[in-house]
Amino acid sequence: MIIPVNTRPPYKIFISPWNVSHTIFHIKKYVPDNQLFIITNTTVANLYRRKLDLLFKRHFKTLWITIPDGERHKNLATCEKILVQLSKLGANRSSCLLALGGGVVGDITGFVASTYMRGIRYFQMPTTLLAQVDASIGGKTGVDLPTGKNLVGTFYQPSAVFIHTNFLKTLPDREFRCGLAEIIKYALIRDQKFWGFLQDNVTKIRQRNAHVTTKMITTCCKIKAQIVTADEREQGQRMILNLGH
Ligand code: GLY
Repeated sequence: MIIPVNTRPPYKIFISPWNVSHTIFHIKKYVPDNQLFIITNTTVANLYRRKLDLLFKRHFKTLWITIPDGERHKNLATCEKILVQLSKLGANRSSCLLALGGGVVGDITGFVASTYMRGIRYFQMPTTLLAQVDASIGGKTGVDLPTGKNLVGTFYQPSAVFIHTNFLKTLPDREFRCGLAEIIKYALIRDQKFWGFLQDNVTKIRQRNAHVTTKMITTCCKIKAQIVTADEREQGQRMILNLGH
């Protein structure tokens, strides 16, 4: 499934169970120097680094930058560490970043991409349900200050979003439920039929049925793509996406 997001610049959301070869094919178009910087956290790295490295390294020189897991690391100090590492590793204006993780990794990577050398490309590969239906789409990047959440940030769209639903197989229940809350939000704000679908499929949702999960993700991504296309900079209707945040 491919969903277009018609922001400036436009990009696509690719949804599949685990079609990493397809993902690599798309990323390759954007990576002129064959170097890909993968930003992730320790938890995701422990689960997926070895497996993904084998797939990616056939096509790119992959350089991994791993940050500690957790919301409390979503700050300028973490960004500075990544920026310094990028410069030490020789990242240049043509370099691309890949955000592999949940909302924190995505927000930080987007922010770093928007500021390193005044802006380089990045891709989102969200691994949590919450990031797959919300945070990875729409180009909101940012970090927290001691005085408040997301006080520093940019609107900076990714070059593509790659949603692999198989990542959810290792997602803890609590995290899965966080994503479900976001899914309920979309049904409440935009789609009565989808609300009915959720009510009719409670058991399958709890069992993480693959078909139902993919249908939920696809529906949410379509809604989000429509809203951010209409109001990229949150001047009006995009505010509705903040319900419950
Ligand atoms: N997470 C809300 C938004 O992207 O606008």
